[in-house]
Amino acid sequence: MVLLFCSDPLVPRQPDGAFASEADAARGLGLDIGLIDFEALVAGDSRAAVRRVPEAQGESAVYRGWMLRPSVYADLHGALAARGVRLVNDPDAYAHGHHLPGWYPALEGHTPRSVWLPVNGDVAMDDVMSLLRPFGDGPVLLKDFVKSRKHEWAEACFIPAASDRAAVERVVRRFVELQGSDLEGGLVFREFVELAPAGRHPKSGMPLAREHRVFFLDGEPVATLRYWDEAEYEAETAAAAALRALAARVKSRFFTLDVAELLHGGWTVIEVGDGQVSGLPDHADRRAFYQALAARLGGSP
Ligand SMILES: Nc1ncnc2c1ncn2[C@@H]1O[C@H](COP(=O)(O)OP(=O)(O)O)[C@@H](O)[C@H]1O
Ligand SMILES: [Mg+2]
Repeated sequence: MVLLFCSDPLVPRQPDGAFASEADAARGLGLDIGLIDFEALVAGDSRAAVRRVPEAQGESAVYRGWMLRPSVYADLHGALAARGVRLVNDPDAYAHGHHLPGWYPALEGHTPRSVWLPVNGDVAMDDVMSLLRPFGDGPVLLKDFVKSRKHEWAEACFIPAASDRAAVERVVRRFVELQGSDLEGGLVFREFVELAPAGRHPKSGMPLAREHRVFFLDGEPVATLRYWDEAEYEAETAAAAALRALAARVKSRFFTLDVAELLHGGWTVIEVGDGQVSGLPDHADRRAFYQALAARLGGSP
């Protein structure tokens, strides 16, 4: 197995600083590492992007880097395949785990009710308001197919009443403005559910919940982490086992389930992510993470 990190744009022979602690941990375990030139990849030159990845014969690989649009992931997958390196997730699996409309049908009933509207160009508020009708006067949360602006909570994320056209319009417009060209896919509106609280974020003030990030690889939980570095609560390993049945519905080999404890008991899935682009919380034990990956994917240690 080889681990592929994004390289530092200024020092292309080194991993990007954002992934340095992960690359160090992997190297410390004796695992093979390769570097991906993210800038070349998003510029459309996938061959140049993988030139520092050693050629192999059917070696399996895990990418650990910046989020990629599904089409860009497909380019990376293809360019690596041409060098004999096989990413753990094929392009369909990546798209399924990365975009909410991909994974939502698989987890419907176990994740907050959601509706979406693809966006290319201007957002038609009449369409938004009719989409929101099933939520009545209830609160909703706004995000795109991948990310929210959760740290701009009141401004661009949380809508107190789905029926309040002025509030919906204000939050939608601000969200679209802040996302700019990063807006991925379209708008997603999700029923706002009451989660077990874990205080407020010290910098942004957004409300935190008892949320956990569980990485699954081939159906097994390989890491269960507290989602927030900024709050104290136990990582729920018991939940990881209980989540296996849900995880089996996700059509991907390597992905994350972010799950939160509900205020009145039980769990809900907040989101799914591709395991290759889901971040590790700062507090997470990187060595343990890569040891668990290698044990399942056949790395040396
Ligand atoms: N439907 C919801 N009900 C209540 N809180 C939610 C809901 N969806 C998300 N949240 C809260 O908002 C945060 C950000 O949402 P999330 O979907 O994880 O966006 P991002 O992809 O930007 O992390 C979550 O960590 C959770 O605390
Ligand atoms: Mg999240």
